[in-house]
Amino acid sequence: MVKILIDQLSENIVETIHEPLLVLDSDLKVILANRSFIDSFKVTRKETLGSFVYDLGNGQWDIPRLRELLEKVLPEKNPFDNYEVEHNFAAIGRRIMLLNGRQIEQAAGKGQIILLAIEDITERRQLEMLLADSEKRYRRLFETANDGILLLEKNEGHIAQANPAVTSMLGYSTSEFFGKKLKDVGFPDHMGTIQALLQALEQNGIVHYNDTPIHKKTGEVLYSDIYMVDKADLVQCNIRDATRHRNLEAQLRQAQKMEAVGSLTGGIAHDFNNILNVIIGYGTMVKDRLDPGSPAMENMNEVLTAADRAAELIRKLLVFSRERIVEVKSVNINALIFDLQKMLVRIIKESIEFHLDLANRSLIVRADAGEIEHVLINLATNARDAMREGGRLTISTGLSEMDEESVAAYGYGKPDRYVRITVADTGTGMDAKTQKKIFDPFFTTKDVGKGTGLGLAVSYGIIKQHNGYINVYSEPGQGTVFNIFLPLSEETATGDEKADAAAPVMGGNETVLVAEDETSLRKLIKTVLESSGYCVILAEDGQDAVTKFMENRERINLVMLDMIMPKKSGKEVCEVVRKMDPRMKVLFASGYAMNNITKKEMTKDVFDFIHKPFRPKDLLIKVREILDRQGK
Ligand SMILES: Nc1ncnc2c1ncn2[C@@H]1O[C@H](COP(=O)(O)OP(=O)(O)OP(=O)(O)O)[C@@H](O)[C@H]1O
Ligand SMILES: [Mg+2]
Repeated sequence: MVKILIDQLSENIVETIHEPLLVLDSDLKVILANRSFIDSFKVTRKETLGSFVYDLGNGQWDIPRLRELLEKVLPEKNPFDNYEVEHNFAAIGRRIMLLNGRQIEQAAGKGQIILLAIEDITERRQLEMLLADSEKRYRRLFETANDGILLLEKNEGHIAQANPAVTSMLGYSTSEFFGKKLKDVGFPDHMGTIQALLQALEQNGIVHYNDTPIHKKTGEVLYSDIYMVDKADLVQCNIRDATRHRNLEAQLRQAQKMEAVGSLTGGIAHDFNNILNVIIGYGTMVKDRLDPGSPAMENMNEVLTAADRAAELIRKLLVFSRERIVEVKSVNINALIFDLQKMLVRIIKESIEFHLDLANRSLIVRADAGEIEHVLINLATNARDAMREGGRLTISTGLSEMDEESVAAYGYGKPDRYVRITVADTGTGMDAKTQKKIFDPFFTTKDVGKGTGLGLAVSYGIIKQHNGYINVYSEPGQGTVFNIFLPLSEETATGDEKADAAAPVMGGNETVLVAEDETSLRKLIKTVLESSGYCVILAEDGQDAVTKFMENRERINLVMLDMIMPKKSGKEVCEVVRKMDPRMKVLFASGYAMNNITKKEMTKDVFDFIHKPFRPKDLLIKVREILDRQGK
């Protein structure tokens, strides 16, 4: 029967094709199954041939979808291609198959046979799903990436797709990107043609451009890191905004420069301040004894002015060194600026208008008021110098919130509430190159002798010490705006504790132990104090101070300690002294604080402090103030 139905040739064809194939008679019994069917579905030829198709593999082929095809679909729609059947086979697991069915009419009266070609598409489906999945994932990456991504077609290098990050980064809409070349949307020319790029990609797999300027739609320049990779028929171009990175780098460089100047200064300041202290101290005493009309008076004044200038220079340099002490108090910035107004007006010239625009609310910061004044005077002086032909100087204040976003935008800062002080002038302005250098120590564009180039470097140091920020906006010919940000404090301002400079200096008859290793300075302090009636006991180093203290414990009312001394530091002496007499009053003297006395300790008011070099009068005021105070 079989032999009659299928001739040899067709049997061979059936055997050799790759796809599984079944031939059924009109009763749906298997007349023929090719090798591929036997192998693929792990059945034997013996059990297959002559079996009812649904009984194959112990009934595994009794598949509702197959029944439907054979009994309903084919009788109506013959042939039927790509009929999908999904089924779980015991022997080979879940398979997805496409069935192509043909009903073939035989010679008259011999009924029909059914040809069933089976294509196993399980793997293909899985691949398709994986592909769709990866396509979906890629899409999601593309859409949500922080990096800007442009996809370029390879013929002309036209942009085929742009992700949301790149549209917001560069300011063009997706449709504006579409069909353009990179150089049409602000990328630099040096990136070359798409052909050159493809060649480079072939050689290196990836092409990377560092710190590349891209002109945004607004014309602004954005510095970016660009990576190019080959993505089959497209080139993927990743653009990362490197502005923040650049800013951080610049900050780091600046900080390192400051650090270098700082340690250099810290090293010489101690000795230098002692020397200056002697010059100023004795100089003042000589001057006080001169007749007002004496010819030496003028010379002495010159000596003292020069010494003052030297002291000021050291003071400026010491701001860099972290070790300098800031006397932190709660300061009302509006009040500070208001009080400083007179002084600022005196600095600027008549041809310059002065405006104040202070915020309505009180703006309190923890700061050293003198230092902040110093910064404002520096800025006002610079503004004056930039407005030789006249102009307008405006100082305004306000509250400024720095959130995560603005921190990211500026490339520095911590999210917090800040008091903003803006100093704006309408002067010459600066080009970008100058702006980069203005905070450098010793950078000046002024004539020799006119500027030291320390004004802004010092201001920068001061603001940093206050955990604040200072930045500049300027255009040549348009003027300059400096913004200062200082962390807002919720406290209320304490009153001005500055001693009244005009008050007469009061002496006393108490006993002061003075420990100072520098001989001439030790002598100076003794002279100054004794001339005001005090009794002075001298010690020449830390150990000596301890010994003298023990010997004279009952008499001593105040201990004055240099911070840095041989054998025992000021702090160590203080610890010993306080152990013996917890209520003993201690005054520290130094050009800078030692590392082991933190700023905090100093400002907790446990210690008193006098800055070297000091004037005789400053010392007397300080000593009196401490002795008159209740408690330590
Ligand atoms: N408001 C401004 N307008 C234009 N240029 C400015 C302004 N402020 C500063 N500059 C520039 O920055 C440079 C550095 O300023 P900085 O205050 O540090 O030093 P200086 O004023 O030159 O010297 P010093 O302040 O030590 O006397 C100035 O020489 C000037 O070129
Ligand atoms: Mg200056």
